[in-house]
Amino acid sequence: MALSKTLNEAINAQIGREFAASLQYTNLAAHFDSHAYPKLAAFFYKQAEEERDHALRFVKYVVEAGGSVAIPAVPAPQPSVASIEEAFRLSLDWEEEVTRQIHHLVDLAVAEKDYQTRHFLDWFVEEQLEEVNTMDTLLRIASRLGEQNSTLLELYLPELAEED
Ligand code: FEO
Repeated sequence: MALSKTLNEAINAQIGREFAASLQYTNLAAHFDSHAYPKLAAFFYKQAEEERDHALRFVKYVVEAGGSVAIPAVPAPQPSVASIEEAFRLSLDWEEEVTRQIHHLVDLAVAEKDYQTRHFLDWFVEEQLEEVNTMDTLLRIASRLGEQNSTLLELYLPELAEED
């Protein structure tokens, strides 16, 4: 069964949002890299790669399902953050928004009885649970530490990030 026009367009929009997330995380990685936080930088560079992978999963699925890939313009990321806490707040807000978008795609697939797309989206539903939890945990640690002690997050980060 080929993708419907509605689902095809909705997935194309999602491809743009995944690439936008990749740019946002790349920007955060560069920010921390240039402020001598190598582990925070590595964490966000890895997130950026994962978001690119998410975009490619959608691209490959659209092709496989007989749809047509049209990648939309991608907005520029927020240029800077004032603190580590703000970086994780931004990341959590983003991941919560992406979760809503993925759930909307599931709603569309269910409404259309497109079981193959519904099944494909399961991976993203699981992935979002993990991503929201990771960002929520890191935000809460950053808030607890406060900006003055936030460099301690550099020490914690490898173990926390390995759970990904
Ligand atoms: Fe692809 Fe982090 O959402």
